[in-house]
This record gives sequence, structure tokens and C-alpha cells, in this order.
Amino acid sequence: MSNLPIVFFVLSTAFFVFVPNDFSFQISEFPVNRGSLTITCAIAAVVLFIKDRLDANGDNVTTKKPKHTTPGKKMKAIIITKYGNDTIEYSDDKINVPKLKQPSDILVHVKAASLNPVDLMISQGNGRVMYNKMRMAKGEPAERDAELPLVLGHDVSGVVVKVGKDVKKVKAGDEVWASIPIWRSEGTLAEYAIVNEYDVSHKPNNLSHTEAASLPFVALSVWTSLVKSMAINSKQAKKRRILILGGTGGVGTFAIQLIKAWGGHVTTTCSKGGIELMKRLGADQIIDYTKEDFETVLSQKKQKFHLILDTQGPSSYQACLNLCGSGGHVVTLVSPLHSMTDKHGLVWGAIKATLARLKIGIPQKLFHSRSFSWGIYAPDGEALDKIKLLVEAGKIKPVIEETFPLCEGVAAFQQLSTGHRKGKIVIDVDDR
Ligand SMILES: NC(=O)c1ccc[n+]([C@@H]2O[C@H](COP(=O)([O-])OP(=O)(O)OC[C@H]3O[C@@H](n4cnc5c(N)ncnc54)[C@H](OP(=O)(O)O)[C@@H]3O)[C@@H](O)[C@H]2O)c1
Repeated sequence: MSNLPIVFFVLSTAFFVFVPNDFSFQISEFPVNRGSLTITCAIAAVVLFIKDRLDANGDNVTTKKPKHTTPGKKMKAIIITKYGNDTIEYSDDKINVPKLKQPSDILVHVKAASLNPVDLMISQGNGRVMYNKMRMAKGEPAERDAELPLVLGHDVSGVVVKVGKDVKKVKAGDEVWASIPIWRSEGTLAEYAIVNEYDVSHKPNNLSHTEAASLPFVALSVWTSLVKSMAINSKQAKKRRILILGGTGGVGTFAIQLIKAWGGHVTTTCSKGGIELMKRLGADQIIDYTKEDFETVLSQKKQKFHLILDTQGPSSYQACLNLCGSGGHVVTLVSPLHSMTDKHGLVWGAIKATLARLKIGIPQKLFHSRSFSWGIYAPDGEALDKIKLLVEAGKIKPVIEETFPLCEGVAAFQQLSTGHRKGKIVIDVDDR
């Protein structure tokens, strides 16, 4: 509020108190005396006061903070400028705000994004050969290191700023969640990110951005592994016995809740500190892997499983297969595809990795009628639409270990690198 109404009010009072009763002169045809001075200043005080109030209300409408800010040229981000250990850095001046390239692109003002082991892997250069070929296939420059500086991050919750001309699913101002293709060098750990219309979904109404950002990547890793590849659904899962290794991780916490929502029986492994969390998420049988060998415990109980989701890799493959019943499936999220293609090139590496899978899978199929396959993450907006319904029904809840502001992203990655989780690590990019 300005001081003018007060000034005129004081003047009006002063004229009334101090100006003599007989004081009077004429300006043109207007008489100037104690009464006219007092009344004029009083009216001015009232008018200016009302104007101030109206302006103040108007301000609330016109200057109210929009849900997203208009992008400048540069943005803050978590990046790498070279591959290796300890190469992750926070930058506030190296990265341009991304631009829409495809008609189906959407510019999102990122509110929160979460960390996944794949981000760490990428920063260390693992999978580099394969991801570079994928980038080239999408028309990105082919020169060595053209993808650097690379912005890390694959999942996002935020507000749509701008949409390409073909986008129909969302519009500017919509609150969305998404995860982006694994090969993308413009990641989501930044103030702005590009998301494709096919990968985006409206954010669940009952979640904050921080909560929503914890789910898309792990949820879609589980969805592609179990629902799309294994055709597991709410009917198939009912009363089935399912073993999930690493229940307290990002993948595990989502997978347990999904299978429980669909009426399955869940056995899981975790370390001691995760047991309470596993009970809370509904796991039916919990094995502390630091105390007991899960294969020994479950074999002694003569238990077999219809489906096993492995998150630990080759050291667990044989144990998983031994525990899988006839007609069952073992799906692993840890395949040798990246390491083989990095070592032998895309074609020969992919052939070698596939042969290694078939070497395990074919005898299993022929002699035990069980399958062995890789689960591979893929972005999918339609699947997120379905997952949103489960979240809004309260059947799946985000599990967050800790949140960090964007400027502390490096510390967040150090925490991720320990490999021991109680849910997800989320970066609050913009909590306005
Ligand atoms: N192929 C794909 O597309 C894809 C997609 C998503 C994830 N992944 C991979 O899947 C794995 C899990 O992902 P995530 O996001 O769940 O990772 P995360 O959040 O870091 O969780 C790791 C989990 O592993 C558990 N763990 C660690 N050592 C263990 C052991 N010796 N035995 C049993 N459990 C152990 C941890 O439990 P404690 O904390 O109790 O030790 C924790 O629950 C990662 O390797 C990731 O790269 C692959």
C-alpha cells in the first residue's frame, strides 16, 4: 500500500485543526478556505485508499505465481561432462533449456525427479555403445561424445509449459508424470525436460510432485517385465506365488504392491532394516538375505514359485531357476547386454548376450518347462494411465527414502551408489 492516502489524511486533519476559520482566497472561480482544503484532502485520502486496495487485489490476479515459470536460456541440472566414477556434477550455467524438436514433444517444468541405478550406470559409461547407437538412430549427432554434457535422470513429475503441434493428450498448465527413453541425453534432473506425448500421463491427484516422481521408471520397469512380457495381470496374479528379490529397492517396493493389489502371494528378500517396510507393503514371506540364503530356506520348505523377479543379476540366476516351478517364469532386470555391447560392439555384443541368455533359457524350457528372460524398461504413457488408477485407489503408495534439493544432487547420487535402499531417492527440483 502507498503512503499517499495517509499523507492526504494527515493534511486534511491539519487543515481542519490549524487553519483559521476566516482564512480564505480565490483561485479562478474556486474558493480556497479551511473547509474546502479539509474536504478535498479527505476525499483524496479516501479515493487513494480505495484505489490502493483495488490495485492490491488486481495484483493477486495478475502477478500470482504461475504454476510454472517462463524458461530462461540456461537452467540448473545434474550432469556429466565426461564418463567415469565421481563425474556427476551440479551445474547452473552449462545447460540450455531444451527445445521442442518433434511435433509430439512436450516441455515440462520439472518439479521433482528421482534417481535410479541406471543413471549411475550411464554416468560411468556403461551401456554407452548401445545408447549412442540408439541416439544416432533417432537422428542425434554421431560424433564421439556428442551427447556430452549429458543431463541425467529418467523420471519426472512437473507442469506442462509448452506442447508441440500434434500433442492432444495434455496442454500447458497440466500436472504430469512420465519417464523418458533410456538413451536420451537430455534427462529429467533439470529445471526443464522434454517428454514425448506417448510417454506422458496426468499425475495421480493424490500425490505430490515429490511422491509422483518416485514411481514412473521403476513402475514401468516392472510393468514391461511382468505385465507386457509375461502377460501377468490382475487375474493371472491372483493366488500365484511370486518371489521378488531386493524388495526394499525402487523396483521391489513397486512390484510387491502391484502383485498384492492383484491378489498374489509375495515372498521377498531384504536386509534386517527393511523387514518392517516389507510387512507394511503386504509381503507374505520375508527372508533376511544377510542372515540366511534364500534358496536354502525356500528349498527346505519345498516352496516353488510361479514367477520370480530377479534384481540381483547372474549370481542369483541359478537359485531363481531352482526355485521356479514347472510352467513358471524367471525374469531378470540385470542382463549382460550393456557390458557385452560395450566390450564387443553393438551387433556382436548383442549376439553374445542373447546366446548367453539362450544357453540358460533353452535347457530350462526343454527339460523343466520354465522360461528365463530379461526384463527391460520401456517408457509407456498408457501404462502410466493404468498405474495412476492403482495409485489413486490407494493400492500403490510411493516409498521415499530421502529427498534432496537439486543443488545437492551429487550427495544424493553418493547415497544411491551404496546399493542399499528403503525406497526411492527423490530430487526436489522446484518445490514452489
Ligand atoms: N533392465 C532394466 O530395464 C532395469 C530397470 C530397472 C532396474 N534395473 C536394475 O534392477 C536392479 C534393482 O533396481 P532398483 O531400482 O530396485 O535398485 P535400488 O533401489 O538401488 O535397490 C537395490 C535393492 O537391492 C537389494 N540388495 C542389495 N544387495 C542385495 C543382496 N546381496 N541380496 C538381495 N538384495 C540385495 C537392496 O536391499 P537392502 O537395502 O536391504 O540391502 C535394495 O532393495 C538394479 O541393478 C537396476 O539397475 C534394471
